[in-house]
Amino acid sequence: SDPVRFYGEHQAGIVTPAQDRLHFISFDVITKDRAELVDMLQEWTAAAARMTQGKDSGTFGAVGGHPEAPPDDTGEALGLPASGLTLTVGFGPSLFDDRFGLAAKKPAALADLPHFPGDTLRPEISGGDICVQACAHDPQVAVHAVRNLARIGFGKVSARWSQLGFGRTSSTSRAQATPRNLMGFKDGTANVKLEDAAMLRDHVWVAPGDGPDWMAGGSYVVTRKIRMNIETWDRTSLAEQELIFGRDKGVGAPLGKKAEFDEPDFAAKGPDGEPVIAVEAHIKLAHPTTHNGARLLRRGYNFVDGSDGLGRLDAGLFFIAYQRDPRTHFVPIQRELARKDQLNEYIKHVSSGLFACPPGLRDAGDYWGRTLF
Ligand code: HEM
Repeated sequence: SDPVRFYGEHQAGIVTPAQDRLHFISFDVITKDRAELVDMLQEWTAAAARMTQGKDSGTFGAVGGHPEAPPDDTGEALGLPASGLTLTVGFGPSLFDDRFGLAAKKPAALADLPHFPGDTLRPEISGGDICVQACAHDPQVAVHAVRNLARIGFGKVSARWSQLGFGRTSSTSRAQATPRNLMGFKDGTANVKLEDAAMLRDHVWVAPGDGPDWMAGGSYVVTRKIRMNIETWDRTSLAEQELIFGRDKGVGAPLGKKAEFDEPDFAAKGPDGEPVIAVEAHIKLAHPTTHNGARLLRRGYNFVDGSDGLGRLDAGLFFIAYQRDPRTHFVPIQRELARKDQLNEYIKHVSSGLFACPPGLRDAGDYWGRTLF
């Protein structure tokens, strides 16, 4: 496939049709020097512009530089195509403390997420000052990109946590088939998609006047690492599984309907007089009609991080969602899910991240953070 355009009004990697693989990383900034941080962001942007087009991260490349100097690319993507690589950057709430004089520019929408019932968040794999979402069709290409940004950032940023995802759990374009999550259900059916221009404008892109100007054209990303207790799930009956989501497992249709993209009918009653889609079904609790019309652009990935030492796979969903304002979108939806979703018996949120992703890069003179610094 052709390389994804790096420049544009919005950052690539948000409405870009979700690639198959993810390497997401969150960094702590360790330099105290604002100019050094800005220099690094400029170097990152130049390297990203190259890598997303299938080139080495530096101009000399893995093997073209001086033999006595460390190469300006690490080499493991030599010979590989761009593989649809996108790199998307966001700034966490902690970057806006007093270190870099950014406090006055902190958007109100970047307020720390509240604690939700059932949260068992591990701080060492949550938060962070700067995130990079690398998505590609080849995991080697995604890892190579993250690794080279970390290499360029040596001494200025330090990796706080990172997450690999091996399969997309969402489609972000009507041209894509809906993939499945590790519970075996189609995931992404009712997602906001690249073709939904009005929904993107209303629910995904930050508009001028929403908050500080530097975020206009950007978006807020929420990440949640959600561990699944798949062994328990696998002993749950098919009928129960379908009731929990409110969709059938085979085609992904809302219960009571036939086709995947049919609209759910939440008023329909079965022969027993009970709603066909339970009042506490996942798709009802998360539905826009339950949240003043709020919609998310979901872009999550499956993960299996080995086993947990207790005879179970350490598996689940690395949830990623983009939105115009988490206070009106992710927070109320997650509050409802945390209180009522029957899925909670089978899942546990173990990490959380919130980042303000600035607008897209205009041209080679632009850099991540130009509108902020
Ligand atoms: C819909 C799975 C967590 C928000 C769905 C669907 C599935 C699913 C199978 C139906 C198909 C679709 O429309 O995509 C899961 C699993 C989760 C999880 C397995 C956890 C492991 C979350 C979280 C949120 C969320 C944390 C947000 C706070 C939504 C929304 C919809 C949805 C907004 C679309 C509802 C609609 O408009 O019909 N999810 N989900 N989900 N989910 Fe989740």
